[in-house]
Amino acid sequence: MTTMPIVPAEEKHLEGIMELEQACFGNDAWAEETMAFELLAEHTRYFVVLDGDKIRGFAGLSKLAGNHQADVQTVCVDESLRGQGYGRKLMERLITAAKSQAATELFLEVRADNAVAQNLYATLGFTHIDTRKRYYQPDNVDAWIMVARIDNELPHEPIVLGIESSCDETGIGIVRGSTLLANVISSSMDLHARFGGVVPEIAARAHLEALQPTLEKALHDAKVSMSEVDAIAVTNGPGLAGALMVGVGAAKALAVASGKPIFAVNHLVGHVGVDVLEGELELPTIALLVSGGHTSLLLVRDLLDDVTLLGETIDDAAGEAFDKVARLLGLSYPGGPAIDKAAVGGDPKAIRFPRGLTLPKDMEKHRYDFSFSGLKTAVARWVESAEVKGEEFSISDVAASFREAVADVLTQKAVAACTEFGIPRLLLGGGVVANARLRELAAERCDAAGIELRIPPFSLCTDNGAMIAALGAQLVMAGRKPSSLDFGVDSTLSVQTVHTK
Ligand code: KG4
Ligand code: ZN
Repeated sequence: MTTMPIVPAEEKHLEGIMELEQACFGNDAWAEETMAFELLAEHTRYFVVLDGDKIRGFAGLSKLAGNHQADVQTVCVDESLRGQGYGRKLMERLITAAKSQAATELFLEVRADNAVAQNLYATLGFTHIDTRKRYYQPDNVDAWIMVARIDNELPHEPIVLGIESSCDETGIGIVRGSTLLANVISSSMDLHARFGGVVPEIAARAHLEALQPTLEKALHDAKVSMSEVDAIAVTNGPGLAGALMVGVGAAKALAVASGKPIFAVNHLVGHVGVDVLEGELELPTIALLVSGGHTSLLLVRDLLDDVTLLGETIDDAAGEAFDKVARLLGLSYPGGPAIDKAAVGGDPKAIRFPRGLTLPKDMEKHRYDFSFSGLKTAVARWVESAEVKGEEFSISDVAASFREAVADVLTQKAVAACTEFGIPRLLLGGGVVANARLRELAAERCDAAGIELRIPPFSLCTDNGAMIAALGAQLVMAGRKPSSLDFGVDSTLSVQTVHTK
């Protein structure tokens, strides 16, 4: 006989739960509105035993924030399934849920005449501490109050596995609380090289092939087994839809197979959250995220609850501009490192390339937005016209001047945001942060403006699973409710949605 999965309850399970509730509790059954409220409330965790789309068992836990006690609200298993261990499995899920919310005690009530259930609870660590006389009416049966002490060492430092697949990196990271245990990345960059940019279908297929070995290596590096993992976190946006789907599918399968809670998290907020692995993330902060897929300026007042998008690119991403300009200069892919190399010895002032969206008329509407497509066209025109005229030109000068234009706009707008919002902190993230001139200019301008500049190590700046795990761990430690299993991917997910419920 196959084992039926136990998954977090969702709204669509309400009808099935109510049928079973009535069969189990008859006249004492909760009203449907009460059940609907409890099922979806922030302070509860409900699980169901699924038999196809039928509900064959359910259990629920309540735990108020700031209170170290949790209560088992209900446990109910279909009559035909009794004695097969589903009651125990449901209780184990409730205990894990209580643990992950830092509860130290778990209470329950059971009928004094239900020795089978009492024995089960005793084997799970519950002891009888009190009796409520004639609690169950009309039978006049006493209720036993039982309690289990929970060793909640884990929840303070939960082990979280993070899966990232939004672009061309398959990243799996593992953290314990805010400590990095493993960060394994398999990049399909080489496969995209001859196209000069990421090809979504190729990226998705590469994720599929890379996931299993990347996961194995991450568990090996972290020296943990899947059973020790407390929660799974996965990027569900923004990014390439097909690529995201591969990571999300794998994460859901892992969550169902292992019975672990799953958190769907925002990729961009992950780039900010990664800083907790480097010591405390000081807030509020401005964050500038620049990669092949995104160019965003964020105001982060609270990592889990208050992230605002101040501006973003209205056309190409900063990394994309490097890749496209490298291609037209005949340099290799990815363009960033190639341009950095070519720029050595070049004169950044040789050509004054345009700084997108910095003119007064643009600044009104696009104060913190970026545009790089005009810059790319300007470089193309400049090179074309030199070639038409048959003029010799220095690639180093073009590369240095282009790089200067990008670094200038990025740092100018980021520092302006810090100053205008009165926030003396700037965090950088994304692959373009490797750029030598960007780092130099950011350091110079932050220094002059009295702004603390934070740049995580490069392995944590580029897309990786550790940042997703780190953000997931923050959610677990804050006692946030895991995502329900039916979340989807959202290629344009807003930064305001840090975690999809
Ligand atoms: O964060 P990342 O690895 O994620 C993706 O967007 O996939 O960023 C890759 C991007 C590429 O566009 C690459 O050209 C750019 O980061 N990049 C750089 C440098 N190194 C990588 N851009 C400028 N200068 C660099 N040294
Ligand atoms: Zn990224």
